[in-house]
Amino acid sequence: MTHGLNILSINGISISFGGLKALSDVNVHVMKNTVHGIIGPNGAGKSTLFNVITGLTKPDSGDIFLEGTKLPHIKPHQLVPLGISRTFQNIRLFKEMTVLDNVLIGQHVHTPTPIISILLNGRKSNEYEKISREKAIEALEFMGIEDKMNDIVKNLAYGQQRLVEFARALAAQPKIILLDEPAAGMNPTEKVNLLSIIGKLRDKGYTLILIEHDMKLVMNICDNISVLDHGKIIAQGQPEVVRKNPDFISAYLGKGENLNARNKRN
Ligand SMILES: Nc1ncnc2c1ncn2[C@@H]1O[C@H](COP(=O)(O)OP(=O)(O)O)[C@@H](O)[C@H]1O
Ligand SMILES: [Mg+2]
Repeated sequence: MTHGLNILSINGISISFGGLKALSDVNVHVMKNTVHGIIGPNGAGKSTLFNVITGLTKPDSGDIFLEGTKLPHIKPHQLVPLGISRTFQNIRLFKEMTVLDNVLIGQHVHTPTPIISILLNGRKSNEYEKISREKAIEALEFMGIEDKMNDIVKNLAYGQQRLVEFARALAAQPKIILLDEPAAGMNPTEKVNLLSIIGKLRDKGYTLILIEHDMKLVMNICDNISVLDHGKIIAQGQPEVVRKNPDFISAYLGKGENLNARNKRN
């Protein structure tokens, strides 16, 4: 593993759905200010791991530590103030709303409830709105889609919709951003752009956890990688180490450089 400060520790997470063990004693340590890849074939448990981290799914056992503090069993909306935000494998946007409104939704948790703020100080509430708007536009600028901010989401290309979701996660001012297959459905040019955005965020001090099938992309951008197969971690470490891991090789032997080759047969 790349050494540094541990920001997120996933300790002994297990969860079954009926008879299916979706995650078995999963241990992952994410270092601050790195890009950490989670790879593995379809059904390996990658999205389930994100759901456990973000409180959508309660594990049967195990704990998550954020900067050394055990996360209580929280609801997803309680997570953003703690510094974790995410995107979804299947884009979750309000398709009939504007790009800007979708991004603004991601940070409402930072503003006090309107009624309280109005009672306390009307001007302060306006101030919060102004800051939220600034943060949202800043995030859209970072993604390079600020010119689309007044467009209705459904009119955007698929790759751009992914960036809107990414912008929403970023505008929430997290420490850690979880990206569930952000490159899915993107063309090669959009993927290159995505890579550069992720790299720039790491340069700015963010920590990113990336679920991704495109092995070239993963090997290029990730500082560390955890490989899941049938709910178990089968290999872990820096890309060049994982690449040589016999379990990794045997899991993907003959599957080419792209895990999609295996996924498509499932
Ligand atoms: N809420 C759920 N109820 C039942 N089974 C689930 C649920 N979520 C995921 N699974 C199952 O758990 C396994 C892991 O799924 P998932 O985490 O989505 O895999 P991945 O993201 O790696 O493709 C799959 O077999 C999937 O069908
Ligand atoms: Mg998934």
